[in-house]
Amino acid sequence: MDIAAFRALEPLCWRAPSAHNTQPWRLRYEPGAIHLGWDAADTLPVADPTGRDLRLSLGAFVETCLIVAADAGLRLEYAADHDERHRRVGWLRPARHPYQTPFRTTDVWERRTDRGRLADGPEQDTLAALDAVARQAGGGVRAVPEPARLAALLRTADRQQYADPAVVAELRRWLRLDPTHPSYDVDGLSDRCLALSRPAATGLRAALAAYPLLRPLGLPRLLAAADDPLARGGAVLVLIAPADLDRTGQVEVGRVLMRIWLTLHTAGLAAHPLSQLIDVAATRTALGALLDVAPDRLLHVARVGRPNRPAPRSARRVGGA
Ligand SMILES: Cc1cc2nc3c(=O)[nH]c(=O)nc-3n(C[C@H](O)[C@H](O)[C@H](O)COP(=O)(O)O)c2cc1C
Repeated sequence: MDIAAFRALEPLCWRAPSAHNTQPWRLRYEPGAIHLGWDAADTLPVADPTGRDLRLSLGAFVETCLIVAADAGLRLEYAADHDERHRRVGWLRPARHPYQTPFRTTDVWERRTDRGRLADGPEQDTLAALDAVARQAGGGVRAVPEPARLAALLRTADRQQYADPAVVAELRRWLRLDPTHPSYDVDGLSDRCLALSRPAATGLRAALAAYPLLRPLGLPRLLAAADDPLARGGAVLVLIAPADLDRTGQVEVGRVLMRIWLTLHTAGLAAHPLSQLIDVAATRTALGALLDVAPDRLLHVARVGRPNRPAPRSARRVGGA
């Protein structure tokens, strides 16, 4: 049966992206269908209090499961059935035909977030293709004109986040800045994936360890000024959602986000999300004004461009690297 055969492919599905690489998804095999839910221990209640990034990540996982199953010739479909109390987004169940997708398991395996140098941005035709993907869910993709103008907004967002002890404590829980960390090859954000040199990783570890002491002395400002991703090139793209999106709709947009990232990957491009711009109310409002879009419709922001070499592969709890 296709459901039983899918179990062997599950490790490939875990290559889906998730905020802070928490990998919140969980599959439970039941007679006739697979329960697709999440584990509260792998959510980000402080950085993602509304669960927006959780649902985008779960949607990315749904899409990845469907692509991996289809590439193996398995006939599976997804049925949304959101239930917050049982921590469920929906079900994977047998279908009459395999899922129709242009993407392959190799795309899922090779795609990576790239926080390094990115040349160029997407060509007009790629941008149009990305926008068409988003339109399937009633949304759109927009490029920010003159992305360098976002540098000040990005510093403001970073400073505000680093000034919040709860945000920093949660981030530290998922940082893997030393290869001897017991979860270095399991989950979270590694020094390599964050494109930090050894001295930079050691410095960040020391600064965050002394955070309570250094915070009043201006550490948040220093940390925010320490990195300027926009100087590493690329365009900045914003994923715009339909108005009044509910939780099921956010999971659907997560599926769209996965298709967007895979469209970029197959065009030789990579994405580096800059979620802080929409996590912080003031910068979210400013970005909305810049694009003339209601701030609550901004669902995801990323720097996008052509990498000059493959980024390091991030860790996974299942299936490894
Ligand atoms: C909804 C969502 C939000 C994300 N936000 C950020 C972000 O603000 N900054 C960042 O550097 N990476 C961000 N990421 C990228 C994840 O950290 C990345 O997907 C994860 O570490 C796994 O790495 P991979 O994408 O290379 O497989 C985000 C990913 C998702 C799905």
